Amino acid sequence: MNAPGTPENPLRVAIVGSGPAGFYAAGHLLKVKDHVVQVDMYDRLPTPWGLVRGGVAPDHPNIKSVSRVYEKTAQHPEFRFYGNVDFGSDVGHDDLTSHYHVVIYAVGAQTDKQMGIPGEDLPGSWAATEFVAWYNGHPDYCDLEFDLSSERAVVIGNGNVATDVTRMLALTREELAATDVADHALDVLAESGVRELVVLGRRGPAQAAFTNPELLELGEMTDADVFVDPADVELDPPSREWLEGEGSMTAKKNVEILTEYSARKPTGKPRRIILRFLVSPVEIVGDGKVEAIKICRNELHRDDSGALRARQTDDTETIPTGLVFRSIGYKGVPLPGVPFDERRCTIPNDRGRIVDPERDAPITGEYAVGWIKRGPTGIIGTNKKDAQETVDLVLEDLAQGRLLEPQRPDRDAVEELLRERRPDHVTYAGWEAIDRRERERGEPHGRPRVKFARMEELLEAAKDADLVK
Ligand SMILES: Cc1cc2nc3c(=O)[nH]c(=O)nc-3n(C[C@H](O)[C@H](O)[C@H](O)COP(=O)(O)OP(=O)(O)OC[C@H]3O[C@@H](n4cnc5c(N)ncnc54)[C@H](O)[C@@H]3O)c2cc1C
Ligand SMILES: NC(=O)c1ccc[n+]([C@@H]2O[C@H](COP(=O)([O-])OP(=O)(O)OC[C@H]3O[C@@H](n4cnc5c(N)ncnc54)[C@H](OP(=O)(O)O)[C@@H]3O)[C@@H](O)[C@H]2O)c1
Repeated sequence: MNAPGTPENPLRVAIVGSGPAGFYAAGHLLKVKDHVVQVDMYDRLPTPWGLVRGGVAPDHPNIKSVSRVYEKTAQHPEFRFYGNVDFGSDVGHDDLTSHYHVVIYAVGAQTDKQMGIPGEDLPGSWAATEFVAWYNGHPDYCDLEFDLSSERAVVIGNGNVATDVTRMLALTREELAATDVADHALDVLAESGVRELVVLGRRGPAQAAFTNPELLELGEMTDADVFVDPADVELDPPSREWLEGEGSMTAKKNVEILTEYSARKPTGKPRRIILRFLVSPVEIVGDGKVEAIKICRNELHRDDSGALRARQTDDTETIPTGLVFRSIGYKGVPLPGVPFDERRCTIPNDRGRIVDPERDAPITGEYAVGWIKRGPTGIIGTNKKDAQETVDLVLEDLAQGRLLEPQRPDRDAVEELLRERRPDHVTYAGWEAIDRRERERGEPHGRPRVKFARMEELLEAAKDADLVK
């Protein structure tokens, strides 16, 4: 048989994960000239788009519209979507390597980093991953029950997910009702008793990971005033030196925004957002549920690499609260049969080529892209360049004849396998049916969509695809 990439022997690629990274990789591959490429994309959910559907905050509809780019990719005649197929339980490593020339893992980071402090798992202490997935209607999280009766909530972390969590707890009912927030979350959020949101940064204002528009939004909430203690924006000498030297434009602007916040007077809005810096949680305190959080003051010091790190001091304080949201980052999880770097929680790779840690050599035909390749940082657009890097290596390996040699690379063999393993898998037409029904449900209420959050509902809605055909 001739080399893959011809009409008789198309280059067969499996992409596991249909988030931005998977879709950018598919888009790049399907644009390749001089080769016939077929992309089969798998997702454990019946719905595509990864965190664009299940992460991006409901009050940011413009960001979600990036999915139009992915929709265009999905219209390519050589693209197939197989939703509701879990890599690990429905199909495994050997299934894919025996059906495809190339396997690309784009599974993102599916869980949360742990703080490692006492009380972290008390009821009332939530990982941002759980809260975000719940309000966005992820089927695995739709049954969580959030008791938002505490007057004060504490959000740990100074990244953009912390700003999302804070905003979602401070939006008005009208603001929430105009979004695609999951129906089960709408009333709970709208009726929340939370009046004060305390956001804790372990380092200073100059080191916050917020981007400028997200930080500015916290100062423009309809229902909440923002507070920063002027003493907190007084930069310590190492931070000042860093900011004036190598400090990024984003960091400089963040400090400017926070300085302006520190000069603000309360305007009497019903809620308060208090941004605090140089403090770390040391314990979440409570008898059977969260009752308070003990924090300590930090100071900054340079580590061996010259980076400014937080060091805890003995100066502690206890903040009474019934609710804690830990927004300190997402974390990748291992996939059966695929190497995993336990320290970085990524798939070990060299620019996207998966590396066997024992041989310290690339594994033929297997690649990674997105958060599972480089860790859980970067905005949606970051994954486009990242996917290009991985796809360039795939093409280099194709040119060198260094790909897998599957026994049954034809599409029929895959569909046969799926009919046997996962007869209720959801095709792209199935997702389009879900999408259509969700939009129809939203229309009378002026909402972009009303999501189906339960697996049974999603699978039922997907069946409409058969009616349209
Ligand atoms: C809460 C939150 C909000 C964000 N908001 C923004 C924003 O407003 N703007 C912005 O630019 N960036 C935002 N980001 C960042 C952006 O979402 C990420 O850069 C991007 O989603 C990472 O893409 P990915 O494809 O690597 O992972 P993901 O988007 O997580 O996609 C991974 C996909 O793999 C699937 N999958 C996982 N395991 C399996 C398996 N075993 N079998 C089959 N499928 C599997 C998942 O179901 C998912 O569909 C946000 C991130 C978070 C966490
Ligand atoms: N609107 C948007 O564009 C948007 C929205 C959401 C997410 N995103 C992107 O998605 C990515 C992930 O966002 P993220 O907020 O999850 O991660 P992030 O940007 O990496 O922020 C994580 C935050 O948690 C802090 N942290 C980590 N470990 C901690 C600990 N043990 N104790 C206290 N604090 C701790 C970090 O502080 P240190 O800096 O000190 O480590 C940092 O402030 C980012 O690239 C983000 O920009 C974008």
